[in-house]
Amino acid sequence: MPQLAQKDACELLDADHLAVKHLFVEYARLAKAMPAESTADREALARKICDELTVHTQIEEDIFYPALRQAAPDAGDVIDEGIEEHHEAKVLISQIRELGTAGAEMDKLVAELARAVEHHVKEERDELFPKAKAAPGMDLMSLGEQLRDRQRELEAAASSTDA
Ligand SMILES: [Fe+2]
Ligand SMILES: [Fe+2]
Repeated sequence: MPQLAQKDACELLDADHLAVKHLFVEYARLAKAMPAESTADREALARKICDELTVHTQIEEDIFYPALRQAAPDAGDVIDEGIEEHHEAKVLISQIRELGTAGAEMDKLVAELARAVEHHVKEERDELFPKAKAAPGMDLMSLGEQLRDRQRELEAAASSTDA
């Protein structure tokens, strides 16, 4: 099989951002267009959103943020803010998971999470990624590989406990 072009760290993270945005859009569409008929689909979407964001925030906190903190000391404040925003997202994620069933309450929480994530992603795109690209010691290709490997590990671990 031909080797697909490797993504660098920022491309990989931004592909995740885009993927989860599509899930939020689909959730909102179903909640609006067919709230009564789409509960099972919304529950599945909410689970996928929560799972994907959990892995995404973890690989950022384990690999991307520490590397950036080291390579670009002036990024420290934005990274601290990012971690704080991850925490806010994690609180909403655990509320959504606890709720489990789709309905007005879940729709409200998912919409709130969508807004929080949109704001956070904008900051990563506008502030963190440019700093990462400008930092002399950042090897974005190698970081991209590390992020991808860790992402696969976490996804495999999550799916083996799902069954
Ligand atoms: Fe991110
Ligand atoms: Fe993030």
